[in-house]
Amino acid sequence: MEKTQQMLKEEVALAAVQALDDNALLGVGTGSTVDCFIDALAASGKRVRAAVASSNRSAERLSRHGIAVVELGQLDEPLSVYVDGADEIEPGLAMIKGGGAALTREKIVASASLGFICIVDESKLVDQLGAFPLPIEVIEMAIGPVSRALVVMGGRPVVRDGVITDNGHPVIDVHGLRIDDPLAWEDRLNALPGVVTNGVFARQKASLALVASQSGVRRLG
Ligand code: A5P
Repeated sequence: MEKTQQMLKEEVALAAVQALDDNALLGVGTGSTVDCFIDALAASGKRVRAAVASSNRSAERLSRHGIAVVELGQLDEPLSVYVDGADEIEPGLAMIKGGGAALTREKIVASASLGFICIVDESKLVDQLGAFPLPIEVIEMAIGPVSRALVVMGGRPVVRDGVITDNGHPVIDVHGLRIDDPLAWEDRLNALPGVVTNGVFARQKASLALVASQSGVRRLG
C-alpha cells in the first residue's frame, strides 16, 4: 500500500522522537509535521526537561500534552536540540522555512540550540532552493522598498494575504528566486532595511535531516 503524506509525516516524527536523548531541553518548531512530532513525543513517554516553542500554536499543543513550556529568556544554557520541518531542504541541509509564517521565532530558537533535526517527507527534498516562494517577514512600512529591491534581485514579491506574524508583521512571499548560494542569499536579504527575517536557513541549517519516503526514513548529515 502506498503511504500517504500524512503517514510519512507520522513516520518521520516518530524517528525524530527516537533520535532524542532522554531529558533533553528541546526547541520545537511549527507546522503539520511538528504537530505529528509533538503528538508522537507525548505518546512515547520519553522525558523532556522542558520545551521552548517557536509559535503560539506549538506552545499550546505542547501544553495540552502536559509538556512543560518555558520561554527562551528563562534559560541560561543552550537548548539540546531544535526539531522542525521545512518547506524545502537541499543536500547541504540549508532550508527554506516560513510557510507557516513562524520563521523569525524559528530562526531564534534554532540559533539557541546545539543541533537542528529537520523532519520532512521526501517532497521537500530539492537540488536547489527557490521553487517554494521564499517567505520574508518585514516591517510594514518597508514593504514598498523591500519589494522593489527583490524585483532587482530577480524575484516576484507577493504580500501574503491576511497574514500577520506572531510578532505583528506582514510576510512577503518571493517567487522565482534561484537560491544557488544559500549563505550569500541569506546575508544579502538580511541587509535590506526593514527585513525582520528571511526564510533562508543557511546560518541555522540542519545538522541532521530525517527524510521519510515510501522505503523508510533516510538520514542526511
Ligand atoms: C513554519 O513557519 C515553517 O517554517 C514550517 O517549518 C514549514 O512550513 C513546514 O511545515 P509543514 O510541516 O506543515 O510542511
